[in-house]
Amino acid sequence: MKAVVYRGERDVRVEDVEDPTIDAPTDAIIRITTSAICGSDLHMYEGRTGAEPGIVFGHENMGIVEEVGDGVSDLKTGDRVVLPFNVACGFCRNCENNKTGFCLNVNEGFAGGAYGYVSMGPWRGGQAEYLKVPFADFNALRLPEGEEHEHDFAMLADIFPTGYHATELAGVGPGDTVAVYGAGPVGQMAAYSARLRGASEIYVVDKVEERLRLAEEHSGAIPVNFAEVDAPAFILDATDGGTDTGIDAVGYQAQKPDGEDEVPAMVLNNLVTSTRATGRLGVVGLYVPSDPGAPTEEAANGRLLFDIGTFFEKGLKMGTGQADVKAYNRQLRDLIIAGRAEPSFVVSKRVPLEDAPDAYARFDRREDGYTKVVLDPAA
Ligand SMILES: NC(=O)c1ccc[n+]([C@@H]2O[C@H](COP(=O)([O-])OP(=O)(O)OC[C@H]3O[C@@H](n4cnc5c(N)ncnc54)[C@H](O)[C@@H]3O)[C@@H](O)[C@H]2O)c1
Ligand SMILES: [Zn+2]
Ligand SMILES: [Zn+2]
Repeated sequence: MKAVVYRGERDVRVEDVEDPTIDAPTDAIIRITTSAICGSDLHMYEGRTGAEPGIVFGHENMGIVEEVGDGVSDLKTGDRVVLPFNVACGFCRNCENNKTGFCLNVNEGFAGGAYGYVSMGPWRGGQAEYLKVPFADFNALRLPEGEEHEHDFAMLADIFPTGYHATELAGVGPGDTVAVYGAGPVGQMAAYSARLRGASEIYVVDKVEERLRLAEEHSGAIPVNFAEVDAPAFILDATDGGTDTGIDAVGYQAQKPDGEDEVPAMVLNNLVTSTRATGRLGVVGLYVPSDPGAPTEEAANGRLLFDIGTFFEKGLKMGTGQADVKAYNRQLRDLIIAGRAEPSFVVSKRVPLEDAPDAYARFDRREDGYTKVVLDPAA
């Protein structure tokens, strides 16, 4: 089959790889109908992780069940499903507590696994024609038959639950004010989720105008262009002392306004500044223990200059980590079916698998029209 294979820094290629097979009785094979490219893929693409050449990318996958192992009881050939980006067993201590982003049985010596991602276990990605899904009864979320809501449902694999998770970590409740740093797909979904949860004011910070406009239009957000204003100062002023909650949807590759230099702790420290004393932070932007391209030696080992003094003084709380997609995807699916959520507004392009190398390059440059790209292996 054809698949998107990582070959090195800013080099992905569509290559022939072996078809996946049923290896354990609880496996299923899915024929991919849509697989999305994620900002998380860009960290690997840019050579900013320990990813080795040869990884098949793709953790945002949906499709049709092609084949199931003897131990799969619920899922049937022909079912339309979306897969959480997390691979999880369903029966370990963390899975039992709904913390499926930290499964103890899918990645030797590590809590948490995912498809097609460095350090996340042996699971091949789904930017391909087919995908093997382990513990398939547990991992697959069934969808209504047909082709309706394809792009809405595709967002259930990662960014919609991840954005929602950010609001859960920050405890965004009715009437709360929230600042979301980053208006990429994850920031969009965080702002959208904050609106679903009844936030009264949502500030979204970025410097890509198209993304700021999108958040304004779909989440009722107040756009803050950090290339034009000092974002934390602007938010402090507008909220009379800071927002109740704050969300990091940028991570360790946070840029200075000039777009040249990176300041890995910039967004964390902006949040400490722009959140009111006793406020709550949800950090879903990625931080890594090892970054080959870090601006400093400390940062290369995941050690950042975080304003812990002010963080403590203000009595702030912070939640972090991979989103436990299974904790939210069923409810978010039902919001889509009921017509109360339409996360596909972030999807800007659908392209054939062969166009993946070009799409990666353009998404990496944050070109207009490339906010969220989905791949169609059948095209
Ligand atoms: N925790 C999880 O489970 C999870 C899941 C998916 C993605 N992620 C992470 O979330 C982050 C965002 O993902 P994405 O797909 O939206 O990526 P993206 O790269 O498309 O978006 C990041 C946005 O941040 C903006 N930005 C850069 N520096 C900034 C700064 N200093 N202040 C404000 N905005 C700034 C960029 O202009 C860009 O629009 C990534 O780090 C990704 O790895 C985490
Ligand atoms: Zn993703
Ligand atoms: Zn588990």
